[in-house]
Amino acid sequence: MALVGARSVLALFATSVVLVAASAHNITAILSGRHDLAEFSRELTATGLADEINGRNTITVLAVDDAHMAPLKARGLPRETLRHVLSLHVLVDYYDDAKLHSLPGGSADVSTLFQASGDAPGSAGMVEIADRRGGRVAFAPNDAGDARGAAVFYVKSVHQAPYNISVLQVSGVMSSPAAESPASSPESSRLNFSDVMCKNGCGRFAGLIATTDGAASTFDKQTHDQDGFTFFCPADKAVEAFEPTFKKLNAVARLAVVLYHGAFGHYSPQALRADEDDLATLATIDGGNSTADFAVRHAGDKVTLVSATHNKARVTRALADADTVAVYMIDAVLVPFDFTALASAPPDIGPVDDSDGRSGRKDGGDGHRTSGSAPCWPLRGWVALALVFSLLAAFASG
Ligand SMILES: *[C@@H]1O[C@H](CO)[C@@H](O)[C@H](O)[C@H]1NC(C)=O
Ligand SMILES: *[C@@H]1O[C@H](CO)[C@@H](O)[C@H](O)[C@H]1NC(C)=O
Ligand SMILES: *[C@@H]1O[C@H](CO)[C@@H](O)[C@H](O)[C@H]1NC(C)=O
Ligand SMILES: *[C@@H]1O[C@H](CO)[C@@H](O)[C@H](O)[C@H]1NC(C)=O
Repeated sequence: MALVGARSVLALFATSVVLVAASAHNITAILSGRHDLAEFSRELTATGLADEINGRNTITVLAVDDAHMAPLKARGLPRETLRHVLSLHVLVDYYDDAKLHSLPGGSADVSTLFQASGDAPGSAGMVEIADRRGGRVAFAPNDAGDARGAAVFYVKSVHQAPYNISVLQVSGVMSSPAAESPASSPESSRLNFSDVMCKNGCGRFAGLIATTDGAASTFDKQTHDQDGFTFFCPADKAVEAFEPTFKKLNAVARLAVVLYHGAFGHYSPQALRADEDDLATLATIDGGNSTADFAVRHAGDKVTLVSATHNKARVTRALADADTVAVYMIDAVLVPFDFTALASAPPDIGPVDDSDGRSGRKDGGDGHRTSGSAPCWPLRGWVALALVFSLLAAFASG
């Protein structure tokens, strides 16, 4: 498709370090080989998900046959709700038959396009794959709260092109209260950062942005930049632990700390995992003469950021991955400079609660709303200006 191609070329042009692979696949063509998957294919096209799938790599589509699509169709859900439900069936990682049966520990938590949309509350857009007894593989949405989504089972592989796209037939449509709830944002093409942060356990960091002079306007400016932008927001617990230190800093240092959590360029989860370079951030040091960077370290699928002062923060979860902007949760505040000179007390900057690191679900950076711990501060300016998802698309077509 011309638009997808143009967008990829532009993104490549615009972001020097991010490799946005122009994918070679066409989900509609792949599914056309199976007449019993026609309804599923039609709905992917109708909801716009087909284009999104074609524009991505390292992806797994869980296809449902017509017979099992029928109950969903009968419900006559609005387009946006249907898109949420189906986007839960697109995993943003590659799983083929062999990988399903060799999951480390027998299970894996995988993010989906529903999670990436930023519309999923908490971790409701995650799907657990479990290799059950007798080699039966189950997929179940990790819906927040007690009403856990229902599991469906792996039937067979429809198509595999390692590691670009895998299409797996599953036994039915995963039911998820979060995905099926009426779409909250009427303007689905816009990503509201304050919303994304507040809904996902980053409300305190959103508060720091709002109350630090110059932070909101700087982020606002960057979010309109075609190069894109990647946010790393420390979880509420980490920000809470850091706040006493933060309060002791002067205005310039405060601004630097906040801006240090925004990196130039859009990094999708795959790009972040593949990145070998330091990321340049919006924070400046040396009186504005140089950009503060941090390093990206990898251990398997885990990504850790290491600041200029060697403090570390683990990336625990992707909160949103839109066209030009991505938001990740990290488990510690990153500090760009040695501020023993600026603050009298040594800073407490370590991770608040170390755990086994499994998808960040059991630790302080898990993003589950804990009652009263995620104040959504009144925000202004840059957050009110919701971000247009399709900035590049508009740019490409205009
Ligand atoms: C994908 O394949 C379908 C069916 O073969 C075709 O109609 C459509 O134009 C293709 N889309 C792209 C983007 O090539
Ligand atoms: C995966 O995609 C890349 C880039 O589009 C392509 O060169 C490669 O051949 C694809 N691999 C498979 C197995 O289709
Ligand atoms: C973004 O979300 C916040 C709440 O988190 C809300 O107050 C604000 O109105 C929203 N902005 C837009 C433009 O929707
Ligand atoms: C920044 O660079 C300018 C021009 O090179 C120089 O005059 C100034 O002293 C530098 N500021 C600091 C704080 O290093």
